[in-house]
Amino acid sequence: MLLVAGLAAGHGADTNDVLKTALYIEPGNFESFAEAFKDLADQTKAKADETLLQDTYFAAATYYRAADFFLHGNWSDPRIDEFWNLERDCFDKGISAMPVPGERITLKADGFEVPAIYYAPQQPVPGVKRPTLLLNEGYDAAQEELLHFNVFFALQRGWNAITFEGPGQPTVRRKQDIGFIPDWERVVTPVVDYLYNRSDVDFERLALLGNSFGGYLVARAAAFEPRIKALILNGGIYDSHQAFVGQLPPNLEKLYNAGEKQQFDDLIGEALHTQESPSQFRWDVEQGLWAFKIQSPYDFLQATRAYTIANITDRIRMPTFIANASSDQFFAGQPQLVKDKLGDSATLYTFNGSAGYHTQVGAAVESNRVIHTWLNSVFNMTSQAVAVY
Ligand SMILES: *[C@@H]1O[C@H](CO)[C@@H](O)[C@H](O)[C@H]1NC(C)=O
Ligand SMILES: *[C@@H]1O[C@H](CO)[C@@H](O)[C@H](O)[C@H]1NC(C)=O
Ligand SMILES: *[C@@H]1O[C@H](CO)[C@@H](O)[C@H](O)[C@H]1NC(C)=O
Ligand SMILES: *[C@@H]1O[C@H](CO)[C@@H](O)[C@H](O)[C@H]1NC(C)=O
Ligand SMILES: *[C@@H]1O[C@H](CO)[C@@H](O)[C@H](O)[C@H]1NC(C)=O
Repeated sequence: MLLVAGLAAGHGADTNDVLKTALYIEPGNFESFAEAFKDLADQTKAKADETLLQDTYFAAATYYRAADFFLHGNWSDPRIDEFWNLERDCFDKGISAMPVPGERITLKADGFEVPAIYYAPQQPVPGVKRPTLLLNEGYDAAQEELLHFNVFFALQRGWNAITFEGPGQPTVRRKQDIGFIPDWERVVTPVVDYLYNRSDVDFERLALLGNSFGGYLVARAAAFEPRIKALILNGGIYDSHQAFVGQLPPNLEKLYNAGEKQQFDDLIGEALHTQESPSQFRWDVEQGLWAFKIQSPYDFLQATRAYTIANITDRIRMPTFIANASSDQFFAGQPQLVKDKLGDSATLYTFNGSAGYHTQVGAAVESNRVIHTWLNSVFNMTSQAVAVY
């Protein structure tokens, strides 16, 4: 809920819409969450169609994404695609109304395609090249969300931005039917190649940012992509497997470590069907199985072993910003491990208090201010305010 409401700061939601919707949600009841946000999304879309207002289309798109959030437990639920098509339609109406419309592009990668959206603060001016931010989400969020969480804040400071998704992420998982891959440079390198073809991009100032599980994905990619000149891990992830196993209740952790696959999967299967199990645990498992495209929770955890930067940190040589969220409920402790390995080339920054949640949800203004202050210092530049909205 905080995540959705927090997008208000970046033109992606209206705060009270989200607070009001909370009243209709029964704790632990995923269906009620989907229904409440679907209703809100439909109402908002109707208003958008009536007024053709950009903000209203963006809000409707956000609410369709929220309606989808808890639905991945049943892979054949038709709403997974239905809500997504509605969300994309609303979002595309929104970006087409930007002063420089967001441009959807599809890039060829080895074995799949990378859907991307390119944004610029102003129409190209001959001879003007701008710093460019490459942006990835993680375990669940869509590239569309990045517009409201990071892109508007980058455009306002005179940066270009490009968002994109790889295997496992919402659009690639749906349209190409591919789950996560650990070697994320296969996703990022085609994006860098594309940027190298653009006359409005300054190749010496390419920065790559990953939110949440994206903190692993982009670190891995940067190890094999030296054309990235600054790296932002929001937050840092050293070893995903260790972080996921660390979230298991003690009885399940014991079964897992003992290799009791059948018993482990049976117990988790039961837990997924009781509303009394913690919602975060149920969501973590259901989303992970869907995104990795793996049926067994045990096999899923085994697959996460490959998602570590343990043996590649010496290849990450660009200046790196590591966000450490003081109240992180997913990856606590991991940012410090990354900092210890990267040493002097990395800056560990701890977000505290109301900015201390996972990826600074609800504090986008502060998050982007801190990140851009760091980027300015890396590239020895000052931000120039640009009106982009
Ligand atoms: C999953 O969704 C499909 C389509 O709505 C439905 O037929 C099926 O019964 C559902 N499966 C479960 C386990 O709920
Ligand atoms: C770069 O531009 C050339 C010439 O237009 C084109 O053939 C090539 O496919 C482009 N490469 C990428 C990665 O976009
Ligand atoms: C790094 O370690 C992981 C996990 O042990 C392993 O799967 C992977 O092959 C290793 N990569 C390299 C480049 O050694
Ligand atoms: C990083 O955050 C953790 C909480 O997740 C906190 O315990 C730790 O002290 C923080 N590190 C620094 C250097 O502030
Ligand atoms: C957050 O709290 C930690 C521990 O008290 C402190 O070291 C750090 O400087 C604080 N971060 C900020 C941005 O104030």
